[in-house]
Amino acid sequence: MKKVDVILGLQWGDEGKGKVVDVLTPNYDVVARFQGGPNAGHTLEFNGEKYVLRSIPSGIFQGGKANVIGGGVVLDAILFRKEAEELAKSGHDLTKQLSLSKKAHLILPTHRVLDAAYEAAKGSAKIGTTGKGIGPTYTDKISRNGMRVGDLLSPNFKAIYAAAKARHEAILKSLNYDYNIDELEQEWFEAVEFLKQFNIIDSEFFVNNALKADKSVLAEGAQGTLLDVDFGSYPFVTSSNTVCAGACTGLGIAPNRIGEVFGIFKAYCTRVGSGPFPTELFDETGATLRRIGHEFGAVTGRERRCGWLDLVALKYSIMINGVTQLIMMKSDVMNDFETVRVATSYKVNGVETTEFPYSIEEHVEPVYTDFEGWQCDLRACRTYEEFPEAFKRYVDFIEQETGVPVKIISVGPDRDETVMR
Ligand code: GDP
Ligand code: IMO
Ligand code: MG
Repeated sequence: MKKVDVILGLQWGDEGKGKVVDVLTPNYDVVARFQGGPNAGHTLEFNGEKYVLRSIPSGIFQGGKANVIGGGVVLDAILFRKEAEELAKSGHDLTKQLSLSKKAHLILPTHRVLDAAYEAAKGSAKIGTTGKGIGPTYTDKISRNGMRVGDLLSPNFKAIYAAAKARHEAILKSLNYDYNIDELEQEWFEAVEFLKQFNIIDSEFFVNNALKADKSVLAEGAQGTLLDVDFGSYPFVTSSNTVCAGACTGLGIAPNRIGEVFGIFKAYCTRVGSGPFPTELFDETGATLRRIGHEFGAVTGRERRCGWLDLVALKYSIMINGVTQLIMMKSDVMNDFETVRVATSYKVNGVETTEFPYSIEEHVEPVYTDFEGWQCDLRACRTYEEFPEAFKRYVDFIEQETGVPVKIISVGPDRDETVMR
């Protein structure tokens, strides 16, 4: 029986998952998103076109492969409809290709309002969420109050909705939060009808039956390990398990059915929203990374905070996920750098450690190893042999430190700007 390969982010999201899923899709029969929701923005570029996917898996552009929105995902019917209609306009009709899990939870209009209300209540301690209702929807799931895609087929759909809305309204009243969702609600009811034209499936059977039939499955994660609700920089995290275990729960795959675990990282670090970031750069170098790397959120347009690669954090992420192959993105952004720095340990309250600490909020000072920059254009390279020696030394060092091979190196946003080893 085949196994499921998993692709997931090792940092704070936006590592380039969308691009790599698209590149790898020709090797698979099924691509399945396992968690997150429209807080994700996965960018794909090919043939001069650029697409940003939020709920729809990144395997839809490579020859009609089956794509699944898994049970671990939270789905906003309004945003999903917009996304699907945009794609249909550009000639991609997904109704045959895309299936939705009955177990995926629905983001209701009041979940979005609750997200905003909770953020407002936190004041300066806010998480800096994407405002898409992610936290409140997962909260309802865990507290056993959620609404699922499968409920669309229930005669009690309206009653389930009304009960959820009433609960949310009571909370919003207690928070003294002003809002009006009349228009949004109307749009939502139309959008849930739109969902019904897609295959609504038991995705755990779909995926396991595919494996039994010797089909290959790629599981696509959203966000990144350092935003995981259990292992990220809590409470400045998202509300789902972004780690490999999330692929098991999000798709209904047994742990022993996981095959390769592809861990994606940028050759530097970025973070959107609040929360600690030990290697963050507040100087000209940080601004240069942002400018050359176009580090602005694909969903919210917010500036991404930028900093040096953090091997302490990367090794932690590799451990939690059991990463078997590394994929390095965006080293081309540092083409002109004279020196490239990598954090190899932290000093926590003056004591050096290579273990990612419980709290990285204060007293963490990164200790850096410096590399001579490669100072040439990596974007032109298509084979590993073409890379300059200085760059190869940097890659070798990452492999030695992590003990995991760097198998794919991305040198630009386009599908073709990819070097396989
Ligand atoms: P995701 O959320 O992990 O799919 O990543 P995003 O799409 O949010 O952010 C990655 C950004 O980097 C997108 O704008 C991509 O087009 C771009 N990108 C991906 N790989 C590379 C690369 O190797 N080099 C450069 N310069 N840009 C890249
Ligand atoms: P992709 O899949 C980067 C961040 C938000 C915020 C925190 C919680 O494109 O890598 P949420 O709306 O999830 O409750 O916000 O998580 N965040 C992301 N940052 N990439 C993402 O997704 C993100 N999804 C959420 O900025 O700090
Ligand atoms: Mg993104």
